[in-house]
Amino acid sequence: MLHTLHRSSAVIIALFAIFHIANHGFAVAGVEAHIQLMESLRQVYRLPLVEALLIGCVLFQVGSGLYFVARRFGERQDFFDRLQAASGCYLAFFLLVHVSAVVFGRSVLGLDTNFFYAAAGMHVFPYALFFLPYYFLAVAAIFAHLACAAHWLMRNRLGPVQRDRLGYALCVAGLLLSAVIITAFAGGFSAVEIPAEYLATYGRGPGT
Ligand code: HEM
Repeated sequence: MLHTLHRSSAVIIALFAIFHIANHGFAVAGVEAHIQLMESLRQVYRLPLVEALLIGCVLFQVGSGLYFVARRFGERQDFFDRLQAASGCYLAFFLLVHVSAVVFGRSVLGLDTNFFYAAAGMHVFPYALFFLPYYFLAVAAIFAHLACAAHWLMRNRLGPVQRDRLGYALCVAGLLLSAVIITAFAGGFSAVEIPAEYLATYGRGPGT
């Protein structure tokens, strides 16, 4: 029963994540393209019912996922089995911090939690030492977690070699896409000028 609910909630989060990560991919086309797409997507995921469902699923996913990890602690032998637990633990940490930060940014700081809210931390030293790997690992971990799910779901359809190849291919795709997204946020494709109100959250002014 708990496994079925975990999988159903995963489908809802994955559906959001596909659009959310595609949105971040648009940063390659420039900050304006990213912000415009986010504003269109917000028309759906910021509807109160949709947002409550999404945040409810995130909380349930974190709780049930950590319970599964604890229940099978020390029993996992296979690479994909271990990767599933490791990527799930990272996603639990990331999602709790990430969603709390978005809610805090909107309700307490009164900021528009758009591209600049995420990018600011990547542009201020020493915070960048935390935020660059934090976001890089998030995209890599969600792909790794989906790779493990695909590896398991294909157990009766593909041979062991093909299943492993599918799993590794999804992990590599996640690493590559994550590197592209983080490079775009860090200003590697075109200059990113962080507005003063976002720099101020790190105690900095423009040019400092
Ligand atoms: C490069 C990696 C990521 C960046 C830069 C990023 C950035 C952001 C930003 C800026 C927001 C605020 C959106 C808004 O105000 O409309 C947000 C919200 C959110 N993100 Fe991410 N995100 C990343 C990865 C992920 C991943 C992998 C997940 C996993 C599903 C995720 C889940 C969420 C959720 C659940 C919200 C809250 C949506 C809401 O209710 O407003 N994010 N993210």
